[in-house]
Amino acid sequence: MDKYIINGGNRLFGRVKVQTAKNSVLPILAAAVLTDKEVRVLGAPRISDVKSMVNILGCLGCATEYDGEDIVVDASCADCCEIPRALAHELRSSVFLLGPLIARFGRAKIAYPGGCDIGLRPVDLHLSGLKRLGVRIREKNGYILCDCKGLKGNEIMLDCPSVGATENIMLAAVGADGETIIKNAAREPEIEDLQKFLNGIGAEVSGAGSGTIRINGVKTLGGGAFRPMADRIEAGTFLIAAAMCGGEIVTEGISGENISSLLHKLRENGCKIRSKNDKIFLSREDALVSVKSVETQPYPGFPTDLQAQMTALCCICRGQSMVTENLFETRFKYVPELCKMGADVTVAGRTAFVRGREGFNGATVVACDLRGGAALVLAALAANGRSEVLDVSHIDRGYGMFEYKLRSLGADIVRAAV
Ligand code: EPZ
Repeated sequence: MDKYIINGGNRLFGRVKVQTAKNSVLPILAAAVLTDKEVRVLGAPRISDVKSMVNILGCLGCATEYDGEDIVVDASCADCCEIPRALAHELRSSVFLLGPLIARFGRAKIAYPGGCDIGLRPVDLHLSGLKRLGVRIREKNGYILCDCKGLKGNEIMLDCPSVGATENIMLAAVGADGETIIKNAAREPEIEDLQKFLNGIGAEVSGAGSGTIRINGVKTLGGGAFRPMADRIEAGTFLIAAAMCGGEIVTEGISGENISSLLHKLRENGCKIRSKNDKIFLSREDALVSVKSVETQPYPGFPTDLQAQMTALCCICRGQSMVTENLFETRFKYVPELCKMGADVTVAGRTAFVRGREGFNGATVVACDLRGGAALVLAALAANGRSEVLDVSHIDRGYGMFEYKLRSLGADIVRAAV
């Protein structure tokens, strides 16, 4: 169990290359099961959630290997449709295998997925969507058992624009007979990326990014190489770090378009921001000014995956802020750890009420999930004095080379075994 030792107070300067997006790579790796041709994911991030997904593909019988920066998947020899509890519990995206396994083999048996402990995280929309395509579903002893004589295209209306349910249904519909229409689909850029990948191997998907996605089922799929989009949440995390520490950084590899809701808030906080092609320039010299309210919403609203990092920023702004988490029920577990560093935050239901303070004091804190852990690192970077952030395995799930990238910007952070 590693920890970070951080001496706060350094301003951040320099350029940081954004990794490929965790939340695009994971469904694309799941989609590789759809075809018996080789798929190469270019520049996959070195993060533990991707390693877990590669292990799951291996357990299904796929030949998988890291080749330099790439991951190569050959699912031609896939011969198993079951994901055991131990593997499924490692990450939420294990549930994304339901669609491809049913499309390829007509059945699947997956233990309920794991992932960050940020709420109930039901899969009812995944299952109701698959049922609409003709899948028979039973739930027994914590496993989801699916079988289907032949997937049939249909119209599906999602009660809420769930990212995972949209992706799972897309992946099943690729192998269905006829057209599937997903209404009230999630609009995240990662879904457009999945559409691009699927069409690149011979699927017929359109409408991703809008609320309505159409999928014409096809009989065969090819293979090929694909470079997923850049990670807008990693980019946003570094931009918030620079806003909190002061200085001037450039993120490379992502357009400001994908995180415009964050950039709008950071300008309100007093940051100077310029976005050109795939670079975002941020500088902050003056005192931070609080934003009155941050409300997480499905894309293009403010991303829930930047809520914790934004709350940490609000803690050191002059004035008061309210941060409301509309997507997940318990995504404020990091707040007591922030308060150990001197933050003044009160959580009531889905809203955190923040009273800005001069700054954080160094302390020893414990990461409890991926984005909450990242928020604690940002607070420690901006704090006066020394901090330790324990259990960084949560952070390793989604941030590759995190301490190296932060050090390259001038942060005083080292990883140590506990
Ligand atoms: C994806 O999770 C992301 N994970 C999450 O990122 C992200 O926070 C989330 O989308 C929202 O943007 C991956 O892509 C691997 P949802 P997912 O289904 O698919 C409810 C990170 O930090 N819901 O869009 O699980 C659910 O309870 C992770 O990188 C149902 O009610 O999110 C939640 O309230 C954390 N029934 C809301 O929808 C369902 O069947 C949004 O969840 C499914 C979801």
